[in-house]
Amino acid sequence: MAEISDVYFIDGMRTPFGRAGEKGMYWNTRADDLVVKAIRGVIERNPGVPLDRIDDVAIAATTQEGDQGLTLGRTAAILAGLPQSVPGFAIDRMCAGAMTSVTTMAGSIGIGMYDLALAGGVEHMGRHPLGGDADPNPRFLTEKLVSPDALNMGITAERLHDRFPALTKERADRFGMLSQHKAQAAYDAGKLQPDLVPVAVKSADGAWGLATEDEGRRPETTMAGLAQLKTPFRPHGRVTAGTSSPLTDGATISLLAGAQAVKELGLTPKMRMVSFGFAGVQPEVMGIGPIPSTEKALAKAGLSIDDIGLFELNEAFAVQVLSLLDHFGIADDDPRVNAWGGAIAVGHPLAASGVRLMIQLAAQFAERPDVRYGLTAMCVGLGQGGSVIWENPHYTGKKKNPKK
Ligand SMILES: CC(C)(COP(=O)(O)OP(=O)(O)OC[C@H]1O[C@@H](n2cnc3c(N)ncnc32)[C@H](O)[C@@H]1OP(=O)(O)O)[C@@H](O)C(=O)NCCC(=O)NCCS
Repeated sequence: MAEISDVYFIDGMRTPFGRAGEKGMYWNTRADDLVVKAIRGVIERNPGVPLDRIDDVAIAATTQEGDQGLTLGRTAAILAGLPQSVPGFAIDRMCAGAMTSVTTMAGSIGIGMYDLALAGGVEHMGRHPLGGDADPNPRFLTEKLVSPDALNMGITAERLHDRFPALTKERADRFGMLSQHKAQAAYDAGKLQPDLVPVAVKSADGAWGLATEDEGRRPETTMAGLAQLKTPFRPHGRVTAGTSSPLTDGATISLLAGAQAVKELGLTPKMRMVSFGFAGVQPEVMGIGPIPSTEKALAKAGLSIDDIGLFELNEAFAVQVLSLLDHFGIADDDPRVNAWGGAIAVGHPLAASGVRLMIQLAAQFAERPDVRYGLTAMCVGLGQGGSVIWENPHYTGKKKNPKK
């Protein structure tokens, strides 16, 4: 008889993230091969998990064609050498694809239908630019449902600067610079590397190399340097390459389990899911999406923002994260927020990023037994937000239990 179950994040790994485009390290690497690498990484690190016990594989991609097409979860499962009995499927919620893979699998585990699942995402933005082959319904324009430029994420970020004058370019620049510095400090301290799966890569001249680190980092970033950058999305705008996540290639995967599987297989969870929420907002200002989704997730958990000890917020754009911090009254440089840097520095391969946030939160939980709850949250194109609240199994304090 199936039973309602807690949902645990057992482990997560990802490929190093590459700069999209011909000069990027994955230009000659297939997107599905990146997923396979991530899956192999996590199953090799968890040898106690019988592969034939994995109930499903959900892989997200925003563009589902070419090497990101054909039901990625199934194709990647076969290519990764999982038993043929393990099924799989594909998911799309643009930037929150991997996050939705996790919450969808969590639903199946939570109602006791699944014991173990793999959930992740991929985006090879070099091969599949956002919206590249999309054919939006003309009604969007004729009925003025959505502004024609709402799919240009940079323009939506410029609109946040317009809407919230307190979110100045100077604040965004500083946030972008600190993301770069924090990511480099995390690399120097060896915090991020343990969860990266090395990927063999082939250069244009056929030489093989090994991708071991996120490629797009710019640790030398200064405020003076950022002040000089062009504003690619609007003449005399405020959003620059230094305050945007770069176009990125990469894949992520997580291993999720229910309470019964944890017990039976002797697994050691890195996080317990407390709640999640998704919300819609005006597509023209999609960056504020994580505000209502976080409110929803907090309400479901019976928690307040003050209960959250660590935040992993996807930095699609600096201004967009700042809008959430301002809403909740959190300082721009609050040490609980993106302690090891964020997407501005390491990159944002759209449908892969949600699980990167979880991987980093899990790694910080292990170091922080004083912290009970953490939040992973992100904005989504066409006006959405997604938030997942997690509990730290290493927590040693005595705070009150949340409602589940
Ligand atoms: C912002 C964006 C247009 C920039 O693209 P790009 O021009 O190819 O980016 P580059 O890396 O070449 O950077 C542009 C310039 O800024 C410079 N630069 C970028 N970051 C910098 C930093 N932190 N410090 C100093 N200079 C920096 C680069 O060196 C480059 O200079 P150059 O023109 O002299 O060579 C692109 O990254 C983008 O579209 N990002 C958003 C992606 C997106 O929408 N994702 C979905 C979110 S919801």
